[in-house]
Parts: sequence; structure tokens; C-alpha cells
Amino acid sequence: MITEIQILLNDQIKYEAAASMQYLAMASWADNAGFSGVAEFFYAQSEEEKAHMTKLVKFVNERGGIVTISALEKPVDEFKNLNSLFEYFLKSEIFVTEQINKVIYECLQHKDYNVHNFMQWYVTEQLQEESTARTLLDKLNIIGDDKTGHYLFDRDIIAITAAVE
Ligand code: FEO
Repeated sequence: MITEIQILLNDQIKYEAAASMQYLAMASWADNAGFSGVAEFFYAQSEEEKAHMTKLVKFVNERGGIVTISALEKPVDEFKNLNSLFEYFLKSEIFVTEQINKVIYECLQHKDYNVHNFMQWYVTEQLQEESTARTLLDKLNIIGDDKTGHYLFDRDIIAITAAVE
């Protein structure tokens, strides 16, 4: 594996791990605030990001590369309300997409079509996750700070998510 690509893939492992911990912190915030539906959504997102991380770790090892597991910064764990929680979710997904695009770009520069092919799975996954985050945030923007709206959003989030996917 080309060193430049190995470095980028290790960075990506860190970003996926950070997203997993970030969503765990968000799940816990929602749990504590009494939004059990939102909490379940973020617990599941946290597991998904962990799976994304592990998939990369296994791939780098299978390709004979060296995996480096990095230390992570403390996730953000204070949010003003549901809207700011989901704004952070979208921001986080946009960041991950940008990093994946960077890996794809470098794969093409170095003609590493094997890694390029592997990363296509992440491109598709990011499209779907960004779309989910945008849809949920759009709904929250319509709801504004209406308490009944937040109650219904929390009750229906799993159904809303299933509809997006
Ligand atoms: Fe695996 Fe949504 O980043």
C-alpha cells in the first residue's frame, strides 16, 4: 500500500471512530433530556460508525498496510436543543464526506484503483447519511421550538429514518 494512501486511510479510521464517540455522546444527551427515540437513533448511528471504522481497519490489514489507532478528542456533549443536536449531526457527516472525497482524489492521483474501488462503499453510505441528516434537520426547522412537535419528532424518528433510507 502506498504510504500516502495508508496515512489517509488511518486518518479516516480516526474520523469514523470520532464520529462513533460523538454520536454516543449525542445519544446520551438525548437519553438524559428524555428523548428516547432520538437516543436510540444516535446509539444506532454510533454503532454504524464503529462498523465503518472496523471495516477500514480490516481492509488496511488485509492489504498488508499498518493500522494506527489514534487518540480521540473529547466529543461535544452539550447541546442547546434538538435543533442544535441535529445541526451538529449534519456538520459531522459533511466533514466525513469531505475527508472521503479527499481519499478518493488521492487514490486517483496515485492510480490506486483497488482502494478507490473499496472507498465507493463509503461514498454511497455518506450520500445516504447526509440525506438522512438533512431530512431530519428540515423537519426540526419546521417544528421550531414547539414542544409538542419535539415530542412527536422523538416518537416518530425511527419511522422518519426508515422512510429516508
Ligand atoms: Fe461513517 Fe457517516 O461517517
